[in-house]
Amino acid sequence: MRKQRLCALDELEEKQARGYRMSASRGQEISLIVVRQGKDIHVYLNRCPHTGVNLEWQPDRFFDMENKFLQCATHGALFRPEDGYCVRGPCAGDSLQAVPAWVSDGWVVVET
Ligand code: FES
Repeated sequence: MRKQRLCALDELEEKQARGYRMSASRGQEISLIVVRQGKDIHVYLNRCPHTGVNLEWQPDRFFDMENKFLQCATHGALFRPEDGYCVRGPCAGDSLQAVPAWVSDGWVVVET
């Protein structure tokens, strides 16, 4: 496991999700979704449990029209931003894979 700074907390607006790519162990690159809800930060692998594709509609467009759920652009699955649980869609009952993350000195730090 290795800890890495992902982004400054100030880069994230309330109720906003952004995508980041970073190197992980063994030189692999991973795609992450970072969600800010108040003081809480949630980070998930950007990989739909249904087929493994990235979720976003366009760069940094992860939320549905109501700005309530993260939505997969391919088949429309809806995920709760606070825990990644899929509430509707072909992978209902599955979850996005959470990545350990926290805020330290104004930075979002992840463990990959
Ligand atoms: S690929 Fe995400 S819902 Fe099908």
